[in-house]
Amino acid sequence: MLLAAADPQAVRAAAEALAAGELLAFPTETVYGLGARADDDAAVQRIYSAKGRPAAHPLIVHAADAEQARRFAASWPAAAQALAQAFWPGPLTLILPRAPALAHAAAGGQATIGLRVPSHALAQALLQEVHRLGVPGVAAPSANRFGRVSATTAAHVLQEFGDALQVLDGGECPGGIESAIVDCSGAMPALLRPGLLSRARIEAVLGARLRDRDEASPRASGGLRSHYAPAARLRLMSTQQMRDALELLGPQASKLRLAVYSRSQLRAGRGVEQRRMPDDPAAAAHQLFAALRGFDAAGVQLIWVEQPPESADWEGVRDRLTRAAAD
Ligand code: TXA
Ligand code: MG
Repeated sequence: MLLAAADPQAVRAAAEALAAGELLAFPTETVYGLGARADDDAAVQRIYSAKGRPAAHPLIVHAADAEQARRFAASWPAAAQALAQAFWPGPLTLILPRAPALAHAAAGGQATIGLRVPSHALAQALLQEVHRLGVPGVAAPSANRFGRVSATTAAHVLQEFGDALQVLDGGECPGGIESAIVDCSGAMPALLRPGLLSRARIEAVLGARLRDRDEASPRASGGLRSHYAPAARLRLMSTQQMRDALELLGPQASKLRLAVYSRSQLRAGRGVEQRRMPDDPAAAAHQLFAALRGFDAAGVQLIWVEQPPESADWEGVRDRLTRAAAD
């Protein structure tokens, strides 16, 4: 069920649904989230059931501002303060030691908690409204079934969960891939998931290099090798590999139920679903998941994707594609 953003009552109706313990999907600047009030374990449980997500996988708690968010944290190290100040509201999630009395189910029982203050105007309006209704924060994973591609439109959310779900419709999410996740619960901040916000900008604020995820890092399902996967098999290929493979196949390509997604102009021939990937990494991120969903909807079996550039500004898109390609 769509709640149209143009309707002035929509945000209020959405906030009331959340306050009543119901599930509600809402847009953010990255992807749609599937929300429930973070202080209600039964409501949070509905997220896990709807997603088919294992109960030990922690969720991110969303709040309207840093002051609200930090109530969920047991401590607030200098790195968290600097990053929150620089990038909130915005596409950054911070992992912190959890205030032990709060959000046990949302945190998947872990001693840490993921916190995010989104900048999307509708998400902001919604979070401010629920806060007025006495809700301290909204737990929300990406609004997709476990292991699948995130949703960047309200229609994608309904495809995942069915028409009965309430979705605050904000059109297309501007960002298109999920937030960057920085673990500030240890001695040195670590990048658990690259995202729209580049590693370089985060490091510039910290004045230090980010650690990479390691054995000591808290678990993140986005860190599973196979994640963000379309139904079709996805392969990453160099430009030359793609050219060679297409040339070798010639007209046979049409029999493969093949999609080709590339920045380079390639001749794929008839019967192949072809789409150009933008040359700009932000534009590529914006359309990435919608493109993968589009290929699935076209019924292809195989998606060949031209390897994105190795440069730092492509890290988020590279990460999602690498995981989508993993078996
Ligand atoms: O952009 C985003 O972050 C979106 C929007 C809706 O805010 N949310 C999102 O949530 O991507 P989700 O659940 O699909 O991915 C969050 C990731 C998961 O991989 C989860 O395991 C990790 O964050 N995470 C959450 N809390 C954590 C914690 N306490 N420790 C380690 N990882 C955590
Ligand atoms: Mg997700």
